[in-house]
Amino acid sequence: MAGVLVMGAGAVGCFVGGLTQLAGVPVHFVGRPRVLAALRKQGLRLSDQDGLNRHIPPLELRLHEEPPSGLKPDLVLLCVKSGATVEAATTLGLTLPLGTPVLSLQNGIANAAQAREAAPQLHWHAGMVPFNIAEIDPGHYHRGTGGALAAEGSPEDLALAAWQTALSRVGMGLDLHADLAPVQWGKLLLNLNNPVNALSGRPLRDELQQRGYRRVLAALQEEALDLLDAAHRPVARLTPLPPRRLLVLLRMPDFVFRLAAARMLRIDARARSSMADDLAAGRATEVDALCGEVVRLARSLGRSAPLNLRMQTLVQAWPRRRQPYGPAELLQAMGLS
Ligand SMILES: NC(=O)c1ccc[n+]([C@@H]2O[C@H](COP(=O)([O-])OP(=O)(O)OC[C@H]3O[C@@H](n4cnc5c(N)ncnc54)[C@H](OP(=O)(O)O)[C@@H]3O)[C@@H](O)[C@H]2O)c1
Repeated sequence: MAGVLVMGAGAVGCFVGGLTQLAGVPVHFVGRPRVLAALRKQGLRLSDQDGLNRHIPPLELRLHEEPPSGLKPDLVLLCVKSGATVEAATTLGLTLPLGTPVLSLQNGIANAAQAREAAPQLHWHAGMVPFNIAEIDPGHYHRGTGGALAAEGSPEDLALAAWQTALSRVGMGLDLHADLAPVQWGKLLLNLNNPVNALSGRPLRDELQQRGYRRVLAALQEEALDLLDAAHRPVARLTPLPPRRLLVLLRMPDFVFRLAAARMLRIDARARSSMADDLAAGRATEVDALCGEVVRLARSLGRSAPLNLRMQTLVQAWPRRRQPYGPAELLQAMGLS
């Protein structure tokens, strides 16, 4: 591959872009001055709980505040948060050659479609990142969970196929799907834990070991699953248990859950949802792309999604509260106690 452009060098962009560069592909990173300054000083370090620990020195990083004009990347990875999609897509549309393939590696359902609307001259693909990544030190990105990347496409999409081959050299899988929607909804169900985790103020592994938080997550997922069933939308299974059986497991007492969900709890002790970081930093969250998507699905069916709507409201009200919720308190705030 001649080159990949990462649009939005943050947790996903630096980790996936860094892996791509380690696979021998030239990568250009477009990011904010804060992130680029750390990369210029420290270089880029990638680690995970399976022993990955690689460093790319500053001089080997191609860093930009804007997409460089004249660049003709084989593939662009869109790695901004949902609220920044339209602006980033518009910028890409003004800079890149017609038809450049762009893969949205964002959570939620609608980002690739919104980006396509903002820059229809580019060739958009939806994608999915199954693992958690956190910046644990400036320039150091740590993967806290596992899994293969997914993208909407086929082996005939040459840029995706070439990237798939490159990633395989560093042990990263990329699954291609003709229709990614079931995978995206499967991921969204899991991401309904992001607001729960953010409001808990705890690392993911701690939070998931508390039944009260898991009951809130199960209720959010069940509401979404009922609506997906009503809309006849299939949901891919991204966990060892299918989504409905996961609900049963989530609601089990803590000691049963710890035994039965050992694999699910194989999360780095430091991992948190990035929504927790957004709340802590006073940034806009992606709750609208997650719970809000469930609320919109409900409305499209002439129904409501009161629990997902309530969670959206709690997250949006955080700046006036700024106090983590204990498990019982969150259940009560959700009307579930
Ligand atoms: N982190 C994870 O574990 C994870 C896992 C799976 C999927 N995802 C999804 O991946 C997406 C990215 O998440 P993330 O955690 O990587 O976010 P992130 O760490 O906030 O990284 C995004 C970066 O892009 C920057 N950015 C936004 N617009 C830009 C622009 N026009 N030009 C240059 N830089 C721009 C952001 O700056 P500002 O903050 O100034 O906007 C931020 O530094 C989200 O949809 C998320 O849900 C995340």
